[in-house]
Amino acid sequence: MSAGSEPAGPATWTAVALSADVPPGTPVPVILDGRELVVWRGASGEARVWEDRCPHRGMRLSFGFVRGDALACLYHGWRFGLDAGCTTIPAHPDLTPPKTLCAKAFAVAEAGGLVFTSGSAETPAGGPPEMGDATPVRSLDVAAPADRVRAALAAAGARFDGPVARIEAPGGLALVVALHGAEAGRTMVHVLADGPADRAALLAAADWAMGLRHSVEAAEASTTPNLAMTARDAETQ
Ligand code: FES
Repeated sequence: MSAGSEPAGPATWTAVALSADVPPGTPVPVILDGRELVVWRGASGEARVWEDRCPHRGMRLSFGFVRGDALACLYHGWRFGLDAGCTTIPAHPDLTPPKTLCAKAFAVAEAGGLVFTSGSAETPAGGPPEMGDATPVRSLDVAAPADRVRAALAAAGARFDGPVARIEAPGGLALVVALHGAEAGRTMVHVLADGPADRAALLAAADWAMGLRHSVEAAEASTTPNLAMTARDAETQ
């Protein structure tokens, strides 16, 4: 997928958030390969992934608020239901909004503690991977392109299964990792324990995730002149 454009070719699932980070009532902004999305869930608990742009005047829907199973725009209060159709226009309370007034909705699925989307209206042929009872650890922003993060995971022994990878961290901790390109040169990494995990295991998994970030960013800095200079400057200060 090139930055900012809809994915080409057959639709595939990409994990864009930990389910635990999308509580009912709180819209979450996400950048997927340069595209601004909003992930939200209403009172019924169903997650939605939409373009983060109100069809009225373009306000970010992630600035809005959830009311029941509708997402309301912050600017003029237009409300959009779970099917993305506009249900209410406060300035015209007697008007039934036409069906053409709708937010741009993308295919969405949840599995194993992750929210997946195809980044388009097309639903991928199969469901997201079966993951059992994964336990969320954290998401983190890595200052390196997604292919660098993927290569680092592969070098560390990760086994990729479509949009997720499984890896055994030091100490035998089994982890699930999903990632996606965010803004240019940045990657969001979502980490879960592959099964139930106690507090110590979650802390160890979070440490592992930070270690992954540091090693990838250090390698990236060493191959990027400006970043390498910044890193050297930081070391000498
Ligand atoms: S910009 Fe969203 S309601 Fe006007």
